[in-house]
Amino acid sequence: MTAGEVLASFGPVAGLAPRVEPFAAGEKDRPLAERLAGALLMAPMAGVSDAAYRVMARAGGAALAYSEMVSCAGLHYGEKSWELVDPNPAEPEIAVQLFGSKPELFRESAERVAARLGERLALLDINMACPVPKVTRKGEGSALLEDPALAAQIVRACREGAPGVPVTVKIRRGRYARQEVAPEFARAMEAAGAAAVAVHGRFATQMYHGEADWGVIDRVADAVGVPVIASGDVLSHEAAERALAQTGATAVMVARGTYGNPWVFSGHEPSAGEKIAAFECHVRLLEATGAHLKRARSLAGWYFKGMPDAARWRNAAMSCVTAEEFLAVAAEVRAALGA
Ligand SMILES: Cc1cc2nc3c(=O)[nH]c(=O)nc-3n(C[C@H](O)[C@H](O)[C@H](O)COP(=O)(O)O)c2cc1C
Repeated sequence: MTAGEVLASFGPVAGLAPRVEPFAAGEKDRPLAERLAGALLMAPMAGVSDAAYRVMARAGGAALAYSEMVSCAGLHYGEKSWELVDPNPAEPEIAVQLFGSKPELFRESAERVAARLGERLALLDINMACPVPKVTRKGEGSALLEDPALAAQIVRACREGAPGVPVTVKIRRGRYARQEVAPEFARAMEAAGAAAVAVHGRFATQMYHGEADWGVIDRVADAVGVPVIASGDVLSHEAAERALAQTGATAVMVARGTYGNPWVFSGHEPSAGEKIAAFECHVRLLEATGAHLKRARSLAGWYFKGMPDAARWRNAAMSCVTAEEFLAVAAEVRAALGA
């Protein structure tokens, strides 16, 4: 079965759409700012936002979904990273996020990704937010927040490599605690040609600890004319609506709030039966997209969270390897709950 067939057959039973609708359908020729207005987006998540995950998110109502962060050096030197870039045929388009530190490699990646995806590349995003030392040590991710001149060069290189493709950046409040650079930095990125700025309201050194500060979203929105996309602690549909209503954000990104909850985008309250059906649909999508089924282990923990005997089902899934084994656990959960 293709991913599209899986979604058509199993999506509606799970309270999801039977197909992925194009990003801002009917607005293709309108500027990104207008297409983003009020949109809820599936955030980039390394190790998580693969094609199956993105299809689930968009069937749950996400306007657009990002790839995992993709290394420009990886695209230059090898084949493996390209797997992260390719949308599944069930996805009308995706946003691709690149990371690196060398403008020349960004230019090349932008050019090759744009040529490969064509119309299916909604936008190219540059990661200036990743706090992981393995990344920042090389001057990549959030390390770029300390070098606005280089970051601006990277934005320009991507625009040159992929003319006509919106180039956006994803930043944090700043790299180090209490040293907020986001508003000033965002202004420099806009001057370099960034079409939108996504802001995660934590300092890089906070990793994912502490509360995200939504105040910085307003400070960035006041500093730039391009759309601002809010990220950080948007853990429910209600929080997404609050972020849109209470901050100057044009759009909102959901990351951890999507764990076991593709309905976070629509606000649909799933029944236990729909949660089990969603897990089954997700497992089948992993299979259809050729992903490693091991990813279904964490998915099981997320989808079954809060159910009676959740720990037992999570443990059962930990020893599963094939799609059939995961689906058998789902059948057991269904029988036990009478769902
Ligand atoms: C497991 C995981 C992987 C992530 N990977 C990326 C990534 O590849 N690129 C990126 O820009 N942000 C990444 N992030 C950050 C999220 O996109 C988001 O900005 C952050 O989690 C805050 O949003 P949340 O509070 O809704 O989770 C990741 C976050 C998590 C939890």
